[in-house]
Amino acid sequence: MNVPIQLEINGKSVAQEVEPRLLLVHFLRDVLGLTGTKVGCDTSQCGACTVLMDGKAVKSCTVLAVQADGSQITTIEGLAHDSEYHPVQQAFWEQHGLQCGYCTPGMIMSVLDLLQKHPQPTEAEIREGLEGNLCRCTGYHNIVRAVQEAATRLQAEPVA
Ligand code: FES
Ligand code: FES
Repeated sequence: MNVPIQLEINGKSVAQEVEPRLLLVHFLRDVLGLTGTKVGCDTSQCGACTVLMDGKAVKSCTVLAVQADGSQITTIEGLAHDSEYHPVQQAFWEQHGLQCGYCTPGMIMSVLDLLQKHPQPTEAEIREGLEGNLCRCTGYHNIVRAVQEAATRLQAEPVA
């Protein structure tokens, strides 16, 4: 039996009936077509599926869609405005923090959470904050630089 849920996704109200077993990541990708959020492992290790739920980074493969009822979700699709990248996206682009880009949406959502907790993070804080996000391409060095640049950009032009 399907269950009605209502939530806000990227600022838009969404009401839908879902199977109680449906994972949030599949709800976002398969029901709503928000395919920026990726599935990399399904065992809650890779972080490719990370989204913000009420402002906190969560691995959406570990959350049921029904658990997200009443919450505010932000996915990578919710970050750019008026064709302008969010400062964290811009920093990843400028510092070559991505190669294939598969991990990048989840990485960026985790970075947003990290920078809320540590607006000017040390390298150690960045590496620790991104421990739950795996990248198979970049070796993390440029990702760390991207986070440092993102922190600087956000200090200069905070984003709501
Ligand atoms: S798909 Fe969720 S952690 Fe890998
Ligand atoms: S950029 Fe390819 S997995 Fe991270």
